Amino acid sequence: MTTCIVMGSQWGDEGKGKVVDLLARGADVVVRFQGGANAGHTIWHGQRKVVLHQLPSGVLTPGCLNLVGNGSVVDPERLVEELAELAAIGVRPGPDALAVSSLAHLVTPIHKWVDGLAGGHIGTTGRGIGFAYADKARRVGVRAGALLDGTLATAIAQQLEQHQPWLDAHDPGAGPELLRRIELFTRACDQLRPFVRDIRPELHDALQAGSNVLYEGAQGALLDLDHGTYPFVTSSSTAIGGALTGTGVYTPFEHRFAVVKAYTTRVGNGPFPTELHGPIGEDLRARGHEYGATTGRPRRCGWLDLHLLREAARTSGYSGIALTKLDCLSGLPELRVATGRDADGQPVYATLPGWSEDILGAPSLEALPANARAYLDFITEQLGVPISILSTGPDRDQTLVLEAPW
Ligand code: IMP
Repeated sequence: MTTCIVMGSQWGDEGKGKVVDLLARGADVVVRFQGGANAGHTIWHGQRKVVLHQLPSGVLTPGCLNLVGNGSVVDPERLVEELAELAAIGVRPGPDALAVSSLAHLVTPIHKWVDGLAGGHIGTTGRGIGFAYADKARRVGVRAGALLDGTLATAIAQQLEQHQPWLDAHDPGAGPELLRRIELFTRACDQLRPFVRDIRPELHDALQAGSNVLYEGAQGALLDLDHGTYPFVTSSSTAIGGALTGTGVYTPFEHRFAVVKAYTTRVGNGPFPTELHGPIGEDLRARGHEYGATTGRPRRCGWLDLHLLREAARTSGYSGIALTKLDCLSGLPELRVATGRDADGQPVYATLPGWSEDILGAPSLEALPANARAYLDFITEQLGVPISILSTGPDRDQTLVLEAPW
C-alpha cells in the first residue's frame, strides 16, 4: 500500500493546492480529514483554475474516490455550490466518486451567523468553523448522518435553542433572517444526502487493497488546535494525528510531506516572530501575490522560521518537504532565516546570500544557482528532512518531483 499525507507546515497558504493537485493525479483515493470551507486549494482542470474549499482535490481525476472524513466540518450550502461550479466545467462526481462521512459535523447557518459576530477577535475566516467544532465538542452538533435518519430538523432546533440566549443578547433582530437561512440550508442538505455514508469501510478496503491513498491536509501545523499558536489557531487537528481521528481508519503514513513556503505568511491575527513590517515584507507580498484564496485578505509576510518548522516536524514526523515559491525569492540580495530563539524568545537569524537569476521552471536541482541550492541545503540540514518536491513557479510543469510516492 502507498499512503501519502500532505500537510501544511506553517500558517496555511503554503501552496498545498499545487502539491495535492499533482499527487491527486495518481491517486486512487483522496481523503480530507479536517477543516472545512475555511480552506482554499487552487487546482487546474486543463487551463482552468478551480478553487476547491471542501471537496478533495481528486474530484478532477477520473476514477478517483474522494472522501470527506469525520474530522471535517461540512457546509452543505457551500459544498453544493462547489459541485455546481464543477458541473459548469463538465465535472459531475456522483456518489461513486464522492462521499461525505455520516460522522462529519455540519456547519449550520447558526455557526456562520455567530462566527460573523464573534469571530473577529482572532480574525477567523467567518465560515463558522470554530463554532461547528465547538458545538461538536459540547454535543449539540449536527452530524451529516442526520440527513439519513430524519433527525435534521430536531437537531437544528436544539442547536438554535442552545445559541438563543447569546443571540438574544447580541443580535436580538436575527430571528427571521436566520430562519430563512436555515430553510436554504435544509434545501442544500437535500442535495448533499446522496453523498452521505459511513466512509470507513471503503477507506479500510482501499488501504488493504494497496491503493494509492492521498490524505489532503488543510491549513497548517501552526494553526493546529493543540500544537499551534493558541488561541490564534483553527479548530481542528492540522497535524498528522488529525488524519487518524479524522478518518477512523489506522494506517502508517508512508510518505509524510510537509508543504513549506520558502518564506512565511500568515492571515488573521496572532504571533508571527519573523514578520517583516517594512518594504521587504511588502515586496514579498507583491512577489508572492500573497492574498488569501478564501477571503482575499492580504497576508502578513516574513522570513522563513526554521525554529517553528522544527517543532512542526517533531509533531508530524515529516519524511519529505515540498518547498514552494522558491522563485519568489529571486533577486533579493540576501535572505534571512530564523534558526532558533535567544534568551528573550526573539528569533536568532542566519543570513544567506541571495541569487539574481530567474529560476522559474528550473529543470533540475543542478540547474539552480549555487546560492539557491545553498538555501535548500541549509533548510534540509537544519530540519533533517529532505526536499521531495520543489516548486519553482505557479505552473504545474514548474515543479521538480525528487521523491514521488507513486
Ligand atoms: P477559522 O479556521 O475560520 O476559525 O480561523 C481561525 C484562524 O485560522 C484564522 O487566523 C484564520 O485566518 C486561519 N485560517 C483558517 N483557514 C485558513 C487557511 O486555509 N489558510 C490560512 N489561514 C487559515
